[in-house]
This record gives sequence, structure tokens and C-alpha cells, in this order.
Amino acid sequence: MELYDVMRTTAAVREFTDDPLPDEVLRTILDNARFAPSGGNRQGSAILVIRDRSTREALVGLTVPGARRYTAQVLAGEIPWNPVRPTSLTEEQIAATEVPDRFTEPLLRAAVVLVVCVDLSAVAAIDQDLDRIGLISGASVYPLVWNILLAARNEGFGGTITTMAVAEEPAIRALLGIPDQYAVACVVPMGKPVRQLTKLTRAGVEDLARLENWTGGPLS
Ligand SMILES: Cc1cc2nc3c(=O)[nH]c(=O)nc-3n(C[C@H](O)[C@H](O)[C@H](O)COP(=O)(O)O)c2cc1C
Repeated sequence: MELYDVMRTTAAVREFTDDPLPDEVLRTILDNARFAPSGGNRQGSAILVIRDRSTREALVGLTVPGARRYTAQVLAGEIPWNPVRPTSLTEEQIAATEVPDRFTEPLLRAAVVLVVCVDLSAVAAIDQDLDRIGLISGASVYPLVWNILLAARNEGFGGTITTMAVAEEPAIRALLGIPDQYAVACVVPMGKPVRQLTKLTRAGVEDLARLENWTGGPLS
């Protein structure tokens, strides 16, 4: 596919056919995705390739608590898991919320599930002393994740970055034997899309870019 077509049509895929995603295709995807940048080119990422049914079921179990709070907050009109605006919901309200299948089914239905980690002993977290939530460390792993999804699209496959399970990171580490210094960046179900969305809803450049300073006009 042409690069801009890939960039403009790589949607979050959560529904998969029964088609496999063979190891050789996954290898091609990862072999191209690995050219993503990382801070200092230290390349601290690690990818666990999961096909085992019982491991997926365990990942579903670890996805549910985070997804329950996410869903409860959305239903209450809050921005879920927001670090600036804490939730006003009680534990009881969250516990009473049903988790929609879209958070869990992809992990069971996908041809393969990737758990992407990053070695925190390899990242330069330049923002670690700021009075806000850390952001920079993620930039040493998410470009790789996005490259994986772009390459998958190019090969006729798709997937979604999912993060709900990361709320239970210690249990993911224990489940998969991930060393303590690794953070889990995301869990990515991947497979052949049931349907391919090609029109994504995104803000335009005029809403995205400001000229010279915060109150500057849009890029014309
Ligand atoms: C940081 C991040 C976390 C996400 N976490 C989840 C998730 O836990 N579960 C899920 O179904 N989708 C998740 N998504 C997918 C987004 O919902 C999706 O990319 C967005 O809604 C755009 O969808 P579209 O490309 O189909 O328009 C996540 C995406 C990002 C970038």
C-alpha cells in the first residue's frame, strides 16, 4: 500500500475473522516495525507473542478491572482514568458496572496477542521531576507499537492498542515472567479485520497546529 493510504486508514480493529496471522507474516511486520525510534536509540522494547488460550483468558481477567472503571467513568460523563481530574465515583459504583465485550472479546478472538514492554532501566525520562504525570518514557516504545499496526495494515491485518490490563501490571509481570524493570506499554490483539474502516474521524490540521505560539492562528 501507499504510505499515506496506510497512515490515513489504520483504524482500531477489534473484530477479527478466523484467519490466522502466520508467524512469517508477523515476522515481516516486526522486521519492518523495528526501525521505530527510541530515546538514545537504546531500543529497550520487548514483545511477547501470545497465542495460548489460557494466557489470553488470564489477560482478559486482568483487563476487566481497568475496563470496569473506564466504563463506569464514561457512563458518568467523566474522562476515564484522567490524571488531572480524579473520579468522583465510589468503589461500589465502579464494582456495579458491566464491562462491554469490546474490551475482552478481541483478546480471545484475535489470531495473536502482543504484549509490548519497555525496559525502564534503558529510558531517559526527562520529565521525571516535573509536577505532572510522566510522558516521555512512553515515547521510547509507542512509536514501535504504531509501526507494528501500520505494517500490519500494509499486510492486510489490523489490531488495537489496548491499555486496560496495564492497571494490573504486577499481575501481568507474574503471568508472563516479565522482569521487574520492564513496564508494560500495551496489549495488542491482532488479526484479519472483519471489515476495514477507511474513513477515520480526526481533527483537521487547522485544529491541530498553531503558528508560533499558543494563541497563534492556524496553519493555512
Ligand atoms: C494510548 C491508547 C490506549 C488505548 N487503549 C484502548 C483500550 O484499552 N481498549 C480499546 O479497545 N481501545 C484502546 N485504544 C484504541 C482507541 O480507542 C482508538 O485508537 C481510537 O478510538 C481511534 O479509533 P479509530 O482509529 O478506529 O478511529 C487505545 C488507543 C491508544 C492510542
